[in-house]
Amino acid sequence: MNIQAILSDKIQQALISAGAPLDCDAIVKQSAKVQFGDYQANGVMAAAKKMGMQPRQLAEKVVELLDLNGIADKTEIAGPGFINIFLSPAWLSAQLEVALADEKLGLTPVEPMTIAIDYSAPNVAKQMHVGHLRSTIIGDAAARTQEYLGHNVIRCNHVGDWGTQFGMLIAYLEKMQNEDAADMALADLEAFYREAKKYYDEDEDFAVRARGYVVKLQGGDEYCRTMWRKLVDITMQQNQETYNRLNVTLTEDDVMGESLYNDMLPGIVSDLMARKIAQESEGAVVVYLDEFKNKEGEPMGVIIRKKDGGYLYTTTDIACAKYRHDVLHADRVLYYIDSRQHQHLMQAWTIVRKAGYIPESMTLEHHMFGMMLGKDGKPFKTRAGGTIRLSDLLDEAVERAGKLIREKNSDMAEDELKQLAEVVGIGAVKYADLSKSRTTDYIFDWDNMLAFEGNTAPYMQYAYTRVASVFKRAGIDSASLTLPIVLNDDRERQLAARLLQFEETITSVAREGMPHMMCSYLYELACLFSGFYEHCPILAAETEELRQSRLKLALLTQKTLKAGLDTLGIGTVEKM
Ligand code: ARG
Repeated sequence: MNIQAILSDKIQQALISAGAPLDCDAIVKQSAKVQFGDYQANGVMAAAKKMGMQPRQLAEKVVELLDLNGIADKTEIAGPGFINIFLSPAWLSAQLEVALADEKLGLTPVEPMTIAIDYSAPNVAKQMHVGHLRSTIIGDAAARTQEYLGHNVIRCNHVGDWGTQFGMLIAYLEKMQNEDAADMALADLEAFYREAKKYYDEDEDFAVRARGYVVKLQGGDEYCRTMWRKLVDITMQQNQETYNRLNVTLTEDDVMGESLYNDMLPGIVSDLMARKIAQESEGAVVVYLDEFKNKEGEPMGVIIRKKDGGYLYTTTDIACAKYRHDVLHADRVLYYIDSRQHQHLMQAWTIVRKAGYIPESMTLEHHMFGMMLGKDGKPFKTRAGGTIRLSDLLDEAVERAGKLIREKNSDMAEDELKQLAEVVGIGAVKYADLSKSRTTDYIFDWDNMLAFEGNTAPYMQYAYTRVASVFKRAGIDSASLTLPIVLNDDRERQLAARLLQFEETITSVAREGMPHMMCSYLYELACLFSGFYEHCPILAAETEELRQSRLKLALLTQKTLKAGLDTLGIGTVEKM
């Protein structure tokens, strides 16, 4: 049930019947204020301008021609030519019944697409840090959302598992193995990388060995491959623990690291050269792009093969886009990568399009996000200025949540508290990120994210338990609710309309990859429920009909909150 889409369609038809151009846009939006009805159509003004007509006159004609029989019981013209639409309570209740009876809340089936989602993408032999957190959390919400809608989602964890640094890492792993200290060294990946680099910079023998290993690894040498595998496996085992803890759906099977595209690189470079898209320049292979200018205002040269024969991050992303077409058959590819990599992606994709490696119809979309900043507005760091480790951050979240829950529940058993703190603490970190528009930088603030009031995870989780408790207290089975829904009170009507906006919300989230839209929706829904709950007695309603009707509204609220939070990867609890 996508009310916005239904109304857009009907109003556009009326506009066209009134003489507007075929491509006119009804611009239907949810009304900002109750007095403007449930929806407002704003497209009349632009259409009237094109037709050289008085907007109000056109609005009158549109309303006359508009066929909303049964859907709305009132349409009003306001201001210069807005059309306000008031949905009919009888129609709303009929739609609520449909949603209640359906496992997917009455969602219109989609034409399934194959959607590849590139997210998380940590680097091998390095600890995952907060910079990877946003990609992981937002990307996972996107994956869950597309899947909920019925699309075929392929999760692509574009792990940084290739490059010249592996010579040094293999040499260091070997050294540690000889000293019987490999396991310990790998337990702290950050230190592992740092130490390897130190030897590489300071010990000439080590550096020579490391450079030799790079060549051997690239040549497929078995010993080097085994050592490399070990580095990848241990890193990904550690990352998997973080994914599980974060309730993120990535598994080992989703790893499609940079190395996967190695074999494609020489072919791509020679193909681009043969077709004169790329050319040699001072020993390197370069693609000059008119779309990008360098400081001198000339076409920017993007290197795809270095003088020493090595390939670059860009070359890999060219191959990767091609692979996602040729092998994964993706219709859409969504990249959750921070905004600093925008130019890199645009260059790679411009080359992909120039070469015609993927069809026009396939989209490559950079769903970028800003940085995570501390309260001081500077990049989020430890007090000592180091990068914060993800696992430390999550530990702190759980600890803080535990303290807050303890304040509210002095007699809760330790075990239960621990479980709850995990769900609330992790939920808070995730929700805080998800609830802000991803394109801006975001300020990490413990107090805000753990507040029990406002658009936060604890508030949403609490709202969920409140709705759920109505049913528990009533001790009724939803199957026993057989009477129809009646919407007499304004609060009931508003809650009903909002409940039916789940589909248009999730559809927008899926289209734009903006999970904060789902958070705002759920938050408004929870607030409307709270007003309804306080003013419209449910179990103590005056009549049995009213009691059942209100229970049904509560039930659909519970289901909608749960479904919405699920698409965000936020856990719910039964009591808190
Ligand atoms: N591993 C990279 C990093 O940590 C991110 C990779 C993003 N995905 C891609 N297709 N380039 O910066």
